[in-house]
Amino acid sequence: MNLPLKLTGLALAPASPQFINRYSEPSTGQAVSAAQELADCLVTPAASVSPKYFYDALGSKLFEAITGLDEYYPTRTEAGIFDVAHAQMALALADAGIRRPCLIDLGAGNCAKASRMIPHLQPKQYVPVDISVDFLREAAEQVQSAFPALNIVGVGMDFSTGLVLPPEVQQHDRVFFYPGSSLGNFSPAQAQAFLQRIADPAQGGASGLLLGIDLVKDKATLEAAYDDTLGVTAAFNKNLLRHVNRLLGSDFDERQWRHLALFNEAESRIEMHLQAQKNLTVRWPGGERVFRGGERIHTESSYKYTVASMSALLRRAGFTQINHWTDPKDWFAVFWASV
Ligand code: AVI
Repeated sequence: MNLPLKLTGLALAPASPQFINRYSEPSTGQAVSAAQELADCLVTPAASVSPKYFYDALGSKLFEAITGLDEYYPTRTEAGIFDVAHAQMALALADAGIRRPCLIDLGAGNCAKASRMIPHLQPKQYVPVDISVDFLREAAEQVQSAFPALNIVGVGMDFSTGLVLPPEVQQHDRVFFYPGSSLGNFSPAQAQAFLQRIADPAQGGASGLLLGIDLVKDKATLEAAYDDTLGVTAAFNKNLLRHVNRLLGSDFDERQWRHLALFNEAESRIEMHLQAQKNLTVRWPGGERVFRGGERIHTESSYKYTVASMSALLRRAGFTQINHWTDPKDWFAVFWASV
């Protein structure tokens, strides 16, 4: 096996990335507040649960499975765009005066998407950022093995609450990489505020952004992507109830709930809901909620943009020069936006 080596004193040791952990697991107090937040959202007339509760250990695996489904086109369509247009993307960075960027990978996960772009963008520094600290640490080590000479600084943090990066992260020529249409899980107002934080010199300090976003298309294709025939997305949605049971101590029975995925054209978003199959009461310590048959819990919105609406959002957030690439069917877009 070919291990990357660096000289430490007299011994040769495998190169390893720097890792900075700015994320602390929720303390008991925060767990209590998660339970409180869940209870508050469940007792309002239009019940909802934040999509962040999809991602327990099983939920993360189910999401990975979703990305391989025939119906879930975004992952493979975006990968196709990167494969075809990577040279043009590198040129767009060069046109903006950026040569050896610091590539900041938001929600890096297994770092697979950025790893495919590293040979083309030739970053001086690679900064994968994720809340899932142990998973990220391992992934960063894999990237270091593949690119032994690359300066890697892994950062464990919850970037949804703030974007000030540690001083080890290069200040200049910062290029943020935010693929997978994750921005679509924010409302447009939240998305604009988030993009503003990326562009703000006092926070993200971006010189540019490579952003993958899903586009509006026919209702049938969109709804099938979120309601696949194997039922993986239904399992992903219902698994949220098990996670809520653990956090809140509630007694949701996922067999009593039906998965729904509907395209709301007026809001330009796929909505995922869980619908009560009959009248039922869900109880937890200190509270309960009666659901009538047919009542729903809103679990996720996934906003779909047009090239024009995303370009306008990027401009409002402070980005000036904007390019984009799409696939032959115009189903997905990758934007390059510089500040
Ligand atoms: C993570 N996010 C971009 C996915 C999406 O398409 O909104 C989450 C997802 N929900 C159901 N399927 C996939």
